Amino acid sequence: MTVADLVNKLTQLEQTLVQPSPLELFTPNWPGASDVTIYIKRDDKIHPVISGNKWRKLKHFIREFVDQSGLSRAEGSLPAEGSASAEGSLPTEDSVRLISFGGGFSNHLHALGYVCYQLAIPLTVVIRGNYSSSPTPMINDLIAWNANIEYVDKATYKLRDTSEYLDTLKRRYPNATIVPEGGSQLQALAGVSDLVTEIDNEIGTNYHTIITPVASGATMAGIVSAVEKHQHVVGIGVLKGQDYLESLVAKFLSKNNHNWHIEHEYHCGGYAKAPAYLTEFCHQFKSATGIAIEPVYSGKVFFALKKMLGQGAFVKGSTLVVVHTGGLQGSRS
Ligand SMILES: Cc1ncc(COP(=O)(O)O)c(C=O)c1O
Repeated sequence: MTVADLVNKLTQLEQTLVQPSPLELFTPNWPGASDVTIYIKRDDKIHPVISGNKWRKLKHFIREFVDQSGLSRAEGSLPAEGSASAEGSLPTEDSVRLISFGGGFSNHLHALGYVCYQLAIPLTVVIRGNYSSSPTPMINDLIAWNANIEYVDKATYKLRDTSEYLDTLKRRYPNATIVPEGGSQLQALAGVSDLVTEIDNEIGTNYHTIITPVASGATMAGIVSAVEKHQHVVGIGVLKGQDYLESLVAKFLSKNNHNWHIEHEYHCGGYAKAPAYLTEFCHQFKSATGIAIEPVYSGKVFFALKKMLGQGAFVKGSTLVVVHTGGLQGSRS
């Protein structure tokens, strides 16, 4: 495949994406809901696999990677599909490869795996925990999409951002490009900020609050970097991490933005914890609205929204936009 083919494939993939994503009015019969106007930014509808914040975070990186891949390849061609190295063995000299990290249900690895499969870019995924005898649906998809999977224990996974560990990966995959966990790198912010532009184009800038889940912080930082001074961004922490989550968001922000804060009351026990009341809420929400949500991200956001409306947490008459960041594949069993 030539570099031109690769660019064409990316363009074709982009044409399958729903952009701008829909912005839908949301009128639940929850206490306090009639005091405000609520919209849902349906990023979950961008694509069945590369949904939610995944495409937002990957788009600029992938575009740059594809554009630059021509520079790093003398012959201008990619390795044949299926030439990815077998698990654990030393790789051949790839002319182009991505490496990334995640858990066994990672939405990021799922989206990246699909993109790489569509573009025939070799991908190595480093997965926390050994799922070789019982792969999750997400891992089965990655296998079907020709990803090279390396399972590592929790202690090794913790080293994923250290230069020592990254150096060992680079020695084994000399030409590979590393994508941080969650796709959370600086280019992610520009992609996420596009969702704010889409909202502005649809309803103007006369809204007050955007609500979004927070885990690695890049999605929230991208939104904060794009909103106007009169607007406020509320993050819903999906894991226990007061101060920690704030530091993750702040590290992406170049200037001293003050129009954001994170709510820490709605992690529901911690990351990926799904107590019965939360799964029940997700089911009820789906039957009442027709909108699917899952317990790890969107379920916590709408659960928080309901509680906060009941507490009168938002200024009466104000307009809120809740970002549905997708991630529904992660709740498959
Ligand atoms: C579906 C979904 N929503 C929200 C988030 C949180 O985004 P961030 O990690 O950028 O804070 C993630 C994790 O990346 C996710 O997979």
